[in-house]
Amino acid sequence: MNQALGIDIGGSSIKSARVNPETGDLLTDIASTPLADRRSVDDVLELVRGIIAAQPEILPVGVGFPGVVRQGRTKPATHLEHGWNNFDFLGAIRSCTSGPVAVLNDADAAGLAEMRFGAGLRYNGPDGGPVLLITLGTGIGTALFHRGCLFPNLELGHIEIDGADAELLAAASVRTHKHLDWQRWGAQVNRYLQTIERLLSPELIIIGGGVSENFAHFSEFLVTEAVVRPARLGNAAGLVGATLAIPPALP
Ligand code: BGC
Repeated sequence: MNQALGIDIGGSSIKSARVNPETGDLLTDIASTPLADRRSVDDVLELVRGIIAAQPEILPVGVGFPGVVRQGRTKPATHLEHGWNNFDFLGAIRSCTSGPVAVLNDADAAGLAEMRFGAGLRYNGPDGGPVLLITLGTGIGTALFHRGCLFPNLELGHIEIDGADAELLAAASVRTHKHLDWQRWGAQVNRYLQTIERLLSPELIIIGGGVSENFAHFSEFLVTEAVVRPARLGNAAGLVGATLAIPPALP
Protein backbone atom coordinates (compact mmCIF):
# COMPACT_ATOMS: atom_id res chain seq x y z
CA MET A 1 0.00 0.00 0.00
CA ASN A 2 1.77 3.16 -1.12
CA GLN A 3 -1.09 5.61 -0.75
CA ALA A 4 -3.65 6.12 2.01
CA LEU A 5 -5.72 8.87 3.57
CA GLY A 6 -4.71 9.82 7.10
CA ILE A 7 -7.23 11.68 9.27
CA ASP A 8 -6.43 13.05 12.73
CA ILE A 9 -9.36 14.23 14.83
CA GLY A 10 -7.91 16.61 17.39
CA GLY A 11 -9.39 18.72 20.13
CA SER A 12 -9.69 21.77 17.91
CA SER A 13 -9.55 20.60 14.29
CA ILE A 14 -9.54 17.62 11.96
CA LYS A 15 -6.35 17.31 9.98
CA SER A 16 -6.03 15.15 6.90
CA ALA A 17 -3.55 14.36 4.13
CA ARG A 18 -2.63 11.64 1.72
CA VAL A 19 0.30 9.64 2.98
CA ASN A 20 2.66 6.99 1.71
CA PRO A 21 2.47 4.52 4.64
CA GLU A 22 5.60 2.74 3.44
CA THR A 23 7.79 5.83 3.81
CA GLY A 24 5.74 8.13 6.05
CA ASP A 25 5.91 10.85 3.39
CA LEU A 26 3.04 13.28 2.98
CA LEU A 27 1.75 13.22 -0.61
CA THR A 28 -0.38 16.35 -0.17
CA ASP A 29 -0.44 19.37 2.11
CA ILE A 30 -2.25 18.88 5.41
CA ALA A 31 -5.83 20.15 5.21
CA SER A 32 -7.25 21.42 8.48
CA THR A 33 -10.97 21.71 9.25
CA PRO A 34 -11.77 23.57 12.49
CA LEU A 35 -14.12 21.72 14.83
CA ALA A 36 -15.31 24.82 16.71
CA ASP A 37 -18.59 23.66 18.28
CA ARG A 38 -19.03 20.74 15.86
CA ARG A 39 -18.14 17.97 18.31
CA SER A 40 -21.16 15.67 18.30
CA VAL A 41 -21.02 12.22 16.71
CA ASP A 42 -23.12 13.46 13.77
CA ASP A 43 -20.99 16.58 13.25
CA VAL A 44 -17.67 14.75 13.32
CA LEU A 45 -18.98 11.96 11.09
CA GLU A 46 -20.24 14.48 8.56
CA LEU A 47 -16.84 16.19 8.46
CA VAL A 48 -14.95 12.90 8.14
CA ARG A 49 -17.36 11.66 5.47
CA GLY A 50 -16.78 14.91 3.55
CA ILE A 51 -12.99 14.49 3.72
CA ILE A 52 -13.23 10.91 2.42
CA ALA A 53 -15.74 11.83 -0.32
CA ALA A 54 -13.52 14.70 -1.51
CA GLN A 55 -10.76 12.26 -2.54
CA PRO A 56 -10.66 11.66 -6.28
CA GLU A 57 -10.31 7.90 -5.76
CA ILE A 58 -11.03 5.22 -3.15
CA LEU A 59 -8.15 5.06 -0.69
CA PRO A 60 -7.46 3.06 2.46
CA VAL A 61 -8.38 5.32 5.41
CA GLY A 62 -6.84 5.56 8.88
CA VAL A 63 -8.48 7.74 11.54
CA GLY A 64 -7.00 8.91 14.85
CA PHE A 65 -9.62 9.62 17.53
CA PRO A 66 -8.99 11.81 20.64
CA GLY A 67 -10.11 9.17 23.13
CA VAL A 68 -10.01 5.45 23.85
CA VAL A 69 -10.89 3.13 20.94
CA ARG A 70 -11.43 -0.57 21.66
CA GLN A 71 -12.29 -2.93 18.82
CA GLY A 72 -13.42 0.07 16.75
CA ARG A 73 -15.76 1.38 19.46
CA THR A 74 -15.11 4.72 21.14
CA LYS A 75 -15.28 5.76 24.79
CA PRO A 76 -16.29 9.28 25.81
CA ALA A 77 -13.66 11.80 24.69
CA THR A 78 -12.87 14.72 27.02
CA HIS A 79 -12.79 17.28 24.23
CA LEU A 80 -15.77 16.08 22.19
CA GLU A 81 -19.48 16.12 23.05
CA HIS A 82 -21.42 13.35 24.78
CA GLY A 83 -22.64 10.48 22.64
CA TRP A 84 -19.36 8.76 21.85
CA ASN A 85 -19.62 6.07 24.52
CA ASN A 86 -19.53 2.64 22.87
CA PHE A 87 -20.07 4.20 19.44
CA ASP A 88 -19.13 1.91 16.54
CA PHE A 89 -16.84 4.43 14.88
CA LEU A 90 -15.05 1.79 12.81
CA GLY A 91 -18.40 0.62 11.42
CA ALA A 92 -19.40 4.21 10.67
CA ILE A 93 -16.17 4.89 8.76
CA ARG A 94 -16.51 1.58 6.92
CA SER A 95 -19.89 2.71 5.63
CA CYS A 96 -18.20 5.76 4.01
CA THR A 97 -15.84 3.81 1.76
CA SER A 98 -15.28 0.43 0.17
CA GLY A 99 -11.54 0.51 1.00
CA PRO A 100 -9.88 -0.88 4.15
CA VAL A 101 -10.13 1.35 7.24
CA ALA A 102 -8.66 1.65 10.74
CA VAL A 103 -9.64 3.70 13.77
CA LEU A 104 -7.36 4.12 16.79
CA ASN A 105 -6.48 6.53 19.57
CA ASP A 106 -4.76 9.66 18.23
CA ALA A 107 -1.72 9.44 20.51
CA ASP A 108 -1.28 5.75 19.67
CA ALA A 109 -1.33 6.75 16.00
CA ALA A 110 1.28 9.48 16.54
CA GLY A 111 3.41 7.01 18.47
CA LEU A 112 3.30 4.42 15.67
CA ALA A 113 4.57 7.04 13.22
CA GLU A 114 7.33 8.32 15.48
CA MET A 115 8.52 4.78 16.23
CA ARG A 116 8.55 3.78 12.55
CA PHE A 117 9.84 6.98 10.94
CA GLY A 118 10.68 9.55 13.61
CA ALA A 119 12.27 10.19 16.98
CA GLY A 120 11.72 6.62 18.25
CA LEU A 121 13.28 4.83 15.29
CA ARG A 122 16.35 3.63 17.19
CA TYR A 123 14.15 2.08 19.90
CA ASN A 124 11.81 0.31 17.51
CA GLY A 125 13.04 -3.26 17.76
CA PRO A 126 13.44 -6.22 20.13
CA ASP A 127 16.17 -4.35 22.06
CA GLY A 128 14.25 -1.08 22.33
CA GLY A 129 13.58 0.04 25.91
CA PRO A 130 10.38 1.74 26.98
CA VAL A 131 9.45 4.81 24.95
CA LEU A 132 6.65 7.14 25.97
CA LEU A 133 5.18 9.54 23.42
CA ILE A 134 3.29 12.43 24.98
CA THR A 135 1.21 14.71 22.77
CA LEU A 136 0.67 18.14 24.28
CA GLY A 137 -2.27 19.81 22.54
CA THR A 138 -5.83 20.64 23.56
CA GLY A 139 -5.43 17.68 25.91
CA ILE A 140 -2.59 15.27 26.70
CA GLY A 141 -2.31 11.97 24.83
CA THR A 142 0.12 9.21 25.73
CA ALA A 143 1.42 6.13 23.91
CA LEU A 144 3.79 3.58 25.44
CA PHE A 145 6.08 1.25 23.49
CA HIS A 146 8.33 -1.50 24.74
CA ARG A 147 10.57 -3.42 22.35
CA GLY A 148 8.70 -1.61 19.60
CA CYS A 149 5.27 -2.91 20.70
CA LEU A 150 2.45 -0.55 21.57
CA PHE A 151 0.45 -0.84 24.79
CA PRO A 152 -2.73 0.82 23.48
CA ASN A 153 -5.14 3.31 25.03
CA LEU A 154 -2.91 4.43 27.85
CA GLU A 155 -4.63 7.49 29.34
CA LEU A 156 -1.77 9.00 31.32
CA GLY A 157 -2.86 12.52 30.40
CA HIS A 158 -5.51 12.14 33.08
CA ILE A 159 -3.40 11.23 36.09
CA GLU A 160 -4.01 13.54 39.03
CA ILE A 161 -1.38 16.01 40.13
CA ASP A 162 -2.19 18.16 43.16
CA GLY A 163 -5.75 16.85 42.97
CA ALA A 164 -6.33 18.04 39.40
CA ASP A 165 -6.26 16.34 36.00
CA ALA A 166 -2.75 16.64 34.52
CA GLU A 167 -4.23 18.10 31.32
CA LEU A 168 -5.03 21.24 33.34
CA LEU A 169 -1.35 21.57 34.18
CA ALA A 170 0.61 20.64 31.09
CA ALA A 171 -1.56 20.57 27.93
CA ALA A 172 -0.41 23.09 25.32
CA SER A 173 -3.85 24.72 25.52
CA VAL A 174 -3.12 25.70 29.15
CA ARG A 175 -0.20 27.83 28.01
CA THR A 176 -2.30 29.76 25.52
CA HIS A 177 -5.46 30.05 27.64
CA LYS A 178 -3.57 31.22 30.71
CA HIS A 179 -1.05 33.31 28.72
CA LEU A 180 1.89 31.53 30.39
CA ASP A 181 5.42 32.20 29.19
CA TRP A 182 7.57 29.27 28.08
CA GLN A 183 9.42 29.11 31.40
CA ARG A 184 6.28 28.93 33.53
CA TRP A 185 4.56 26.42 31.26
CA GLY A 186 7.82 24.47 30.81
CA ALA A 187 8.06 24.12 34.61
CA GLN A 188 4.52 22.69 34.65
CA VAL A 189 5.37 20.26 31.86
CA ASN A 190 8.47 19.29 33.83
CA ARG A 191 6.33 18.56 36.89
CA TYR A 192 4.16 16.31 34.73
CA LEU A 193 7.12 14.51 33.14
CA GLN A 194 8.78 13.91 36.51
CA THR A 195 5.53 12.47 37.89
CA ILE A 196 5.22 10.16 34.89
CA GLU A 197 8.86 9.19 35.15
CA ARG A 198 8.40 8.04 38.73
CA LEU A 199 5.65 5.71 37.52
CA LEU A 200 7.14 4.35 34.30
CA SER A 201 10.90 4.95 33.89
CA PRO A 202 10.90 5.30 30.11
CA GLU A 203 14.26 5.53 28.34
CA LEU A 204 12.96 8.04 25.85
CA ILE A 205 10.13 10.57 26.05
CA ILE A 206 8.94 12.00 22.73
CA ILE A 207 7.01 15.26 22.92
CA GLY A 208 4.39 15.47 20.17
CA GLY A 209 1.58 17.81 19.19
CA GLY A 210 1.88 21.16 17.43
CA VAL A 211 3.91 22.59 20.31
CA SER A 212 6.73 20.13 19.54
CA GLU A 213 7.72 22.61 16.83
CA ASN A 214 8.56 25.04 19.66
CA PHE A 215 10.53 22.45 21.64
CA ALA A 216 13.59 24.73 21.77
CA HIS A 217 11.55 27.29 23.77
CA PHE A 218 10.85 24.96 26.69
CA SER A 219 13.33 22.06 26.55
CA GLU A 220 15.74 23.83 28.93
CA PHE A 221 13.08 23.63 31.68
CA LEU A 222 12.75 19.84 31.45
CA VAL A 223 14.91 17.89 33.90
CA THR A 224 14.39 14.15 33.52
CA GLU A 225 16.46 10.99 33.58
CA ALA A 226 14.92 9.92 30.29
CA VAL A 227 16.12 11.48 27.08
CA VAL A 228 13.43 13.92 25.87
CA ARG A 229 13.10 14.66 22.16
CA PRO A 230 10.52 16.47 20.03
CA ALA A 231 8.43 14.45 17.58
CA ARG A 232 10.22 14.44 14.26
CA LEU A 233 7.00 14.34 12.26
CA GLY A 234 5.57 17.24 14.28
CA ASN A 235 1.89 17.81 13.72
CA ALA A 236 1.71 15.20 10.95
CA ALA A 237 2.55 12.28 13.26
CA GLY A 238 -1.08 11.44 14.10
CA LEU A 239 -2.37 11.29 10.56
CA VAL A 240 0.69 9.45 9.26
CA GLY A 241 0.44 6.91 12.10
CA ALA A 242 -3.28 6.35 11.52
CA THR A 243 -2.45 4.98 8.08
CA LEU A 244 0.01 2.50 9.61
CA ALA A 245 -2.86 0.80 11.45
CA ILE A 246 -4.81 0.04 8.27
CA PRO A 247 -5.07 -3.73 7.70
CA PRO A 248 -3.91 -4.97 4.31
CA ALA A 249 -6.75 -5.30 1.77
CA LEU A 250 -8.05 -8.83 1.20
CA PRO A 251 -6.82 -10.29 -2.08
C1 BGC B 1 -7.81 11.85 25.67
C2 BGC B 1 -6.80 10.97 24.99
C3 BGC B 1 -6.25 11.66 23.77
C4 BGC B 1 -5.71 13.03 24.14
C5 BGC B 1 -5.20 13.80 22.94
C6 BGC B 1 -7.18 13.20 25.97
O1 BGC B 1 -8.13 14.05 26.58
O2 BGC B 1 -8.28 11.29 26.87
O3 BGC B 1 -7.37 9.74 24.63
O4 BGC B 1 -5.24 10.87 23.20
O5 BGC B 1 -6.72 13.81 24.78
O6 BGC B 1 -6.21 14.04 22.03
